[in-house]
Amino acid sequence: MRLTIEQIRDFKRRGERLAMLTAYDYSMARLLDEAGIPLLLVGDSLGMVMLGYTTTLPVTMDDVVRHTQAVVRGSKRALVVADLPFLSYQASADEALRNAGRLLKEGGAQAVKLEGGGRMVETVQRLVEAGIPVMGHLGLTPQSINQLGGYRIQGKTAAAAARLLADARALEAAGAFSLVLEGIPAQLGSLVSSRLAIPTIGIGAGPGCDGQVQVLHDILGLYPDFAPRHARRYAELGQAVQEAARRYAADVAAGTFPSERESVAMVPEVLAELLARDAAPDPARP
Ligand code: KIV
Repeated sequence: MRLTIEQIRDFKRRGERLAMLTAYDYSMARLLDEAGIPLLLVGDSLGMVMLGYTTTLPVTMDDVVRHTQAVVRGSKRALVVADLPFLSYQASADEALRNAGRLLKEGGAQAVKLEGGGRMVETVQRLVEAGIPVMGHLGLTPQSINQLGGYRIQGKTAAAAARLLADARALEAAGAFSLVLEGIPAQLGSLVSSRLAIPTIGIGAGPGCDGQVQVLHDILGLYPDFAPRHARRYAELGQAVQEAARRYAADVAAGTFPSERESVAMVPEVLAELLARDAAPDPARP
């Protein structure tokens, strides 16, 4: 049975911290689900770590639907949250509803995530009314990279921090079941978390959030282009992959792969008949 949004809220009621990770494919989703990760995010970060774009902006609805399907197939217990990509929800609440609906109907996600406060509050309300659980996302919102002028810490002034807190409260009132806080000072992360009943999930927002989310490739050492300050390496899989690939290539070059055990032998009688046929003259050839 999958976790529900109510059970995710219960984590905060019990004072238990939530560990969320991004997932983009079947195999990884299965490993993370079996490891007991309760929340899997099909983030639009897939555009960077899976597709090689330099930002998340080019990601399409079809990209997220396809990856969400794979993550849902790979997991049994985790609640799967799918990201609404850039310009799939900003133009109107109607468009947001149609696209969020696709992530649930076609993708099989249990919830969607969208970035921003302010004008997004009405959209969140609309989705929630239609039965679509929404996770908000405030602070450093990567889809607004051009507006923010780079991947910069947000909420540094008292006015900006107060605006963020007001947005967080408004998203909660609109029905969001949880809220990602990205790239803000730790004290602001703690303050927002203490003022909301719904769980906050931090990324570069300090230890005072109710949970943490990380891009899987960052904690596994699988994304060589950029290492965010907030990410801790729990494994060096990039090095392990390269080492395995080098050993494999060396074995192929040396002719030691595949071995006899890794090959299928022909039944001796069949081999004998094949060789006999090959030696006999072919009547079809002049
Ligand atoms: O796209 C993503 O992976 C995200 C997380 C970093 C929160 O939005």
